[in-house]
Amino acid sequence: MIGRVHPVLFDPDQVVEALADNSFVKAVHVYRRLTSTNTLARRLAESGAATGTLVLAEQQTAGKGRMGRSWDSPEGLGLWFSLIFRPPELVFDYHLLPLILGEEIALAVEEQSGCRCAVKWPNDILLGERKICGILCESSYRQQQFEYMIAGIGINVNQTVADFPEALRDRATSLAIATGRLFDRLQLLRQVLARLQRRFSAAPENIADLRGWRRLCRDLGREVTLRVNDQEFTGIFENISPAGEMLLRLADGTLRRFSVSSWI
Ligand code: BTN
Repeated sequence: MIGRVHPVLFDPDQVVEALADNSFVKAVHVYRRLTSTNTLARRLAESGAATGTLVLAEQQTAGKGRMGRSWDSPEGLGLWFSLIFRPPELVFDYHLLPLILGEEIALAVEEQSGCRCAVKWPNDILLGERKICGILCESSYRQQQFEYMIAGIGINVNQTVADFPEALRDRATSLAIATGRLFDRLQLLRQVLARLQRRFSAAPENIADLRGWRRLCRDLGREVTLRVNDQEFTGIFENISPAGEMLLRLADGTLRRFSVSSWI
């Protein structure tokens, strides 16, 4: 077990330098403290920032989770960042973005730590039964036309159990808790972004290929319960559609589709 960690903060110049050879990353914004990297990324996207713009914060004072929840983002202990995606570079169904990111991040985490992660539809990454990474994709439309997507990624890296609020301790974990050692966050960021560069420079059909995601998903073929707008659905998670929808076989034999966007 590791003791309370004194975080080593990023040197913004080092971050820029470490990502200089990544052709996916087009601009790097590093902040000591932000309310939410998604909020700043959205502001940048509104003023035309390109696909591959990265916004990273050491700490978020109002980190956002899905479904209006908050995301605990203590200073220097995790990776809290957002990426902008927009046409024409977005050559695949943008509903797939959370799944694609989940797969690549899970693999990057495994490469760095040796920890085998699982993806949970639509966009969580689990280590054992606990969450190690959450992804919040927010899309923007103008006159019903899709404009851009902000993908916010939170990876729990060097927190100890005591760094998590009590209410999260049985649901969340970090790489440090799982392995008993500390990780270089910049190395992990580099690894994640290197994987994204590789994935997003592939042919559209390969970007959208969900076979890797399926391999990392423990719930496929198993019974799951979904809560959508206060309603519960229990059934067998039969498959994932090419648009990233969950195909759930209910007890009465009907097949229900749940789209990723109903989850955000
Ligand atoms: C979830 O699982 O509920 C999604 C959590 C997403 C957290 C990340 S941290 C960086 C980015 N900025 C935010 O405010 N949220 C996302």
